[in-house]
Amino acid sequence: MDALTDLKARYLTGIAAAGDEAALEELRLAALGKKGEVSLKMRELGQMSPDERQTAGPALNALKDELDAALRAKRVALADAALDERLKAEWLDVTLPGRPRPRGTIHPVSQVMEELTAIFADMGFAVAEGPQIETDWYNFDALNIPPEHPARQEHDTFFMARAADDPRPPHVLRTHTSPVQIRAMTAQGAPIRVIAPGRVYRMDMDQTHSPMFHQVEGLAIDRDLSMANLKWVLEEFCRAFFEVPHVDLRFRASHFPFTEPSAEVDIRCSWAGGQLKIGEGDSWMEILGSGMVHPKVLKAAGVDPDQWQGFAFGMGIDRIAMLKYGIPDLRAFFESDLRWLRHYGFAALDLPTLQGGLSR
Ligand code: PHE
Repeated sequence: MDALTDLKARYLTGIAAAGDEAALEELRLAALGKKGEVSLKMRELGQMSPDERQTAGPALNALKDELDAALRAKRVALADAALDERLKAEWLDVTLPGRPRPRGTIHPVSQVMEELTAIFADMGFAVAEGPQIETDWYNFDALNIPPEHPARQEHDTFFMARAADDPRPPHVLRTHTSPVQIRAMTAQGAPIRVIAPGRVYRMDMDQTHSPMFHQVEGLAIDRDLSMANLKWVLEEFCRAFFEVPHVDLRFRASHFPFTEPSAEVDIRCSWAGGQLKIGEGDSWMEILGSGMVHPKVLKAAGVDPDQWQGFAFGMGIDRIAMLKYGIPDLRAFFESDLRWLRHYGFAALDLPTLQGGLSR
């Protein structure tokens, strides 16, 4: 049995020293393979006497099992070591940002458009759109501003250049978002509840005016809407938008050809310490024009004024963005100065929602 002890010691030492899978496999074949040492010894059992076989048989079987177990254990140990090695080499700091951060920011005007869309959507207003290059019929006539009306001059309109004999209707850069009222009602009829944010154009340029600026139109038509509904909607909007528990709105009688009665709306604010606060103080800031939609406007859009009535408003988006985010100069909005955008811009992919707190 010395031979077996010796053989066993040799293989166990070999297995313990094996550095990889291939070396292990070689040892397995040399011992337990078809022509392996242990297998050959098994074959010799046939030539032994029954007595000899009775001791040699179990001993060989035990040896075979032991080598087999040692091989398996070593195989597992090698796999574990390989995994450890990989884990060490492929170490990754999962707290690092997964991708390069987007360097751009969302412009305050875009941010505010998202915010007000979320607020009005919550009150049942859908978003409507119209073209920025508009016929003068949509921009003026349909809104009860006939050609000789003085309001046409007040709008400082950009007209599209046309040859005198051009048969197409005259076009302008829309001077307000109110033409979308006509387009939305013509397309959907009544009842209707829409807002229409977008670009508008007037020939005007100074510290508080840019030739291109942004408005949001609001329109609600139903059987029995009144100024009271208008007031509630605007107060609700202002509280949500400025993220304050209370706002005061002041309705001043005004005139727009497309609403009757008409009101300009101011919001109470304070400039104490050079800092603007909404909802307190003794100052008033005009933020929008509004009124009950004129029957002629309803008629121009194919809505029967004997059946339907409602309110409309038009608000300056740039103005309320300046108010909310304390941005002093309107012109900087459109200068595309990267430092300004980085300072006043908002994180990309971080859309405002009512549940999330609009501006976070
Ligand atoms: N269109 C008006 C403006 O640009 C605002 C307004 C819209 C007023 C709707 C009343 C109703 O000044």
